[in-house]
Amino acid sequence: MSTCTQFNVVKNDFQGTALVQMSLPRLDELSDGCLLVEVERFAFTANNITYAMLGDIMKYWQLFKAPDGFGNIPVWGFGRVIASMHPQIAAGERLFGYFPMASHLVIEATDVSKRGLRDGAAHRQGVAPVYNAYARVTDDPAFAGRNGDYQALLRPLFMLSFLVDDFLAEEAFFGARTVILSSASSKTAFGLAHLLHSKRKPIRVIGLTSAGNADFVRSLDCYDDVVLYDRIDTLPADHPVAFVDMAGNADLRGRLHRHVGGKLVYSGRVGLTHQDEGEDAELPGAQPSWFFAPDQIRKRAREWGPGGIDTRFNAAWSGFLPLLEQSLEIAESRGPVAVEKIYRDTLAGRVPPHQGHMLSFAVG
Ligand SMILES: NC(=O)c1ccc[n+]([C@@H]2O[C@H](COP(=O)([O-])OP(=O)(O)OC[C@H]3O[C@@H](n4cnc5c(N)ncnc54)[C@H](OP(=O)(O)O)[C@@H]3O)[C@@H](O)[C@H]2O)c1
Repeated sequence: MSTCTQFNVVKNDFQGTALVQMSLPRLDELSDGCLLVEVERFAFTANNITYAMLGDIMKYWQLFKAPDGFGNIPVWGFGRVIASMHPQIAAGERLFGYFPMASHLVIEATDVSKRGLRDGAAHRQGVAPVYNAYARVTDDPAFAGRNGDYQALLRPLFMLSFLVDDFLAEEAFFGARTVILSSASSKTAFGLAHLLHSKRKPIRVIGLTSAGNADFVRSLDCYDDVVLYDRIDTLPADHPVAFVDMAGNADLRGRLHRHVGGKLVYSGRVGLTHQDEGEDAELPGAQPSWFFAPDQIRKRAREWGPGGIDTRFNAAWSGFLPLLEQSLEIAESRGPVAVEKIYRDTLAGRVPPHQGHMLSFAVG
């Protein structure tokens, strides 16, 4: 194959998209240290739409090149090295990491170790290190087959769930006895609900969700109660409550703050599934603040030492896998047309929460 397919979106109107074909570099055009990687399969969830929404602020748009006015949304997935100009990396190796929505990527391999490498391309610097790191996962059963799909779909999300659980527990939940999660059907939310429910009793976990997703949320069995968005007036307001907001909807946040009032002891912003960047008016209770994962990672890396986060995270991940096997159906789509369809379904909130989408530009 000599061309690369790229799927780009118009930065200021996500309904606008463009499939672009470009020539791939020939082997003799690859610089020393470079790898030509075929993007084999990648996950797509609401989190990727959030990357696009925060593309400028968080510098996600600078990671992968796109024509003026367009951006290429980063995705988590797997790539196969098809040509290597790096002496320590062989063609055929499999990598896990952050890829563009494209069929191929050229990586300038640096900091190569037994376990991984980094893309040293100038335009990929200045972002959190996790966004240019690749794990070398050839023959690693934890990243093969269905386990690999779970990793691509959930590992980056569950890291956030793990960090918020750890942060809240360390802060003794700010005195809260109940934790409320919005967009309770999202993978990030139910990962957190699973951790709270399995490890932090007697903390009660309440999931806020839309009517169409309530049955799924109930079926997960990791929420003590499930409340619909239009029944916020039934939420507890007689004891200290913490709120972790995956929906990011200013109207919903305002209604919740006004209902719980002074009993709201923590209001952490995590997501934007409802694609609302509205501003908060003056709100009662603890003021909303963004939970910034890299801060908690740095703190725990210092306190727990080398490997401390990985060991604890891997143990938590093992405990989470049975819930995934039981509740998540992997849906695979191949080819540019199918990729665009899943992009549009995700953007419009049409993906049922029990589905996890794995995509590929390769047809057949
Ligand atoms: N800050 C961080 O570091 C960090 C890390 C990980 C994830 N997150 C964020 O957490 C959020 C959840 O991500 P995810 O990948 O776990 O989501 P997901 O599993 O794809 O979540 C899907 C759910 O989000 C809601 N939703 C999605 N699209 C919608 C739309 N167009 N309109 C209304 N509701 C919609 C629906 O839930 P309901 O009906 O239940 O509302 C839907 O079931 C994202 O915003 C993500 O960026 C942040």
